[in-house]
Amino acid sequence: MRFTARLSTLYLILLSSRSSATEETQFEQRCSDLTDSFNAVDTDILLAEYVAQGTNITFPEPVANRCLKFAISLADMCRLRLNVTTSSTSSVIVEVFMPTNWESKGERFLMTGNGGLGGCIQYNDMTYGTSLGFAVVGHNNGHAGDTGLPFFNRPEVVKDYAWRALHTAGKIGKSAVSHFYSSLINKSYYIGCSSGGRQGLKAAQEFPDEYDGIVSAAPAVNFHAVVAAGSNMFKITGPPGSATHLNRDQWIAVHQMVVGQCDGIDGVLDNVIEDPMKCQPRPEELLCGPGQTWTSHQCLTAAQVLTVRKIYSPVYGNDGKFISPRLNPITKEFVGYLFMYGGVPGYIGDEWYKYALYNDPTWSIQNDFNWDVVDHDFQQDLFGVGTEKTDLTDAKNNNTRILMYHGLADCMITSENSYDYYEGVSRDMGLPSSQLDDFYRFFPVAGLDHCTSGDGAWFVGGSNQYTTAGALNIDPADSVLMTMVKWVEQGIAPDTLTGRKLVGGVVTGEKAHCRHPLKTTYKGVGDPNLASSWECRTA
Ligand SMILES: *[C@@H]1O[C@H](CO)[C@@H](O)[C@H](O)[C@H]1NC(C)=O
Ligand SMILES: *[C@@H]1O[C@H](CO)[C@@H](O)[C@H](O)[C@H]1NC(C)=O
Ligand SMILES: *[C@@H]1O[C@H](CO)[C@@H](O)[C@H](O)[C@H]1NC(C)=O
Ligand SMILES: *[C@@H]1O[C@H](CO)[C@@H](O)[C@H](O)[C@H]1NC(C)=O
Repeated sequence: MRFTARLSTLYLILLSSRSSATEETQFEQRCSDLTDSFNAVDTDILLAEYVAQGTNITFPEPVANRCLKFAISLADMCRLRLNVTTSSTSSVIVEVFMPTNWESKGERFLMTGNGGLGGCIQYNDMTYGTSLGFAVVGHNNGHAGDTGLPFFNRPEVVKDYAWRALHTAGKIGKSAVSHFYSSLINKSYYIGCSSGGRQGLKAAQEFPDEYDGIVSAAPAVNFHAVVAAGSNMFKITGPPGSATHLNRDQWIAVHQMVVGQCDGIDGVLDNVIEDPMKCQPRPEELLCGPGQTWTSHQCLTAAQVLTVRKIYSPVYGNDGKFISPRLNPITKEFVGYLFMYGGVPGYIGDEWYKYALYNDPTWSIQNDFNWDVVDHDFQQDLFGVGTEKTDLTDAKNNNTRILMYHGLADCMITSENSYDYYEGVSRDMGLPSSQLDDFYRFFPVAGLDHCTSGDGAWFVGGSNQYTTAGALNIDPADSVLMTMVKWVEQGIAPDTLTGRKLVGGVVTGEKAHCRHPLKTTYKGVGDPNLASSWECRTA
């Protein structure tokens, strides 16, 4: 087969020099040849094949593992799938998508991140990157599936999750791309959300010369605090049926109560709170009077009101030690109910403590979670997974640009966590925002849930957002990724981040989200769905 293809390539070259058909054949040939031509230590090539635009790519990852099962290719590209050994007991699967138009699109490299407990390759972020001509790498973070089970008694797998898979996949991915195109990579970028946001900041902290631009969204930075705050939710709510628990309908009522109390603060009634810091919900509004019940009056008991108050309060551990800021006060109750306050312990905390921290399958949030567990987790900080370092001097000196954004309606990782990290960097480096702006900018995005969707102008062209209907019809020029490219390659730093309200595949509004510490402020007149009706003001 290969021999025939080579002969026909030669034939075509002789007949018509540099016809596009020839280039295509050569590209396909060079791609399948990677099996022989690309050699790297500790690396097995699992697949090297040409994939045409529009192909439904399916993945060999095991089924019940919380990962996507397919993605549609958005470019003609070469797909390389590698298995890289990281220790005698661990390995990482690396995918490299290399589009045909890479040379004419700026010779850019893009690394994508993961989510949750790790092991899902973000294929939609990868295909999106190839549609813009990037060579894109994704990896499984050292284990298959968004599950903590593979951590059980395998510390090397935890190490991959904390940082090594990212570092390894970046190195091997870059060498594969340079080899395939016989060319040096011009600029390197990173994009990821949630755990992927944490990985982006990990790169900024520990591998500051590997990326020119890092886009970190809703980062699970300060990992131990994020896991603790999520796990503590179950302690607050108790299981369904307990006196402290609220059912789904009751949380919908709470959501409407918060909207009623806080939506107007920013001058626009649109289910979006522009600055949640100004919203202090008062759940006592829903308290039942004597003889009243949920059934008769849609009101809450005192115990339930206290639950709501606790959920919207900061979290303190042993000896009153501050652990985490409060949950955002306006969130999509559906996702929040599913993952945070529905009375079922979240799998992330449960599996992290069980399999990574204690190596004890009998451990459970229900029976064993307390503040000593949290202290132990912070103190162990397995392989630096906490990602708490606030000194980004090396990143600054390497000219690495960092763009962080966080949805202000995020119900999984509170956006206050990102403010805290940003202000920590400011203090640690002794740089006011005007100077952090040179290399590190933070954009709070009102009306964005966790990574994707929301009631506001949430679509910024970011990680996890390209699964949404209509997303691909939006001009990518002011997407967060191309905004970063402009910053890195043309020195045009973004003052605002363009967000669009995307409903049922249709854009119904637009907003230019201001960078912290400026506040996106309604001018008081004009259609609030127009970006021009808002401006950036000092608080
Ligand atoms: C892609 O293939 C998978 C697996 O065969 C299938 O479930 C999915 O519906 C396909 N997607 C499209 C858009 O054709
Ligand atoms: C990857 O390599 C490791 C050995 O390092 C092996 O245990 C594992 O089964 C391989 N995975 C795949 C998908 O080939
Ligand atoms: C590499 O990037 C620079 C901008 O940083 C650009 O001027 C140049 O054209 C790019 N080179 C290639 C080969 O695309
Ligand atoms: C760039 O980062 C590396 C670490 O990856 C560090 O050793 C080096 O000092 C940094 N460069 C500068 C100019 O600070």
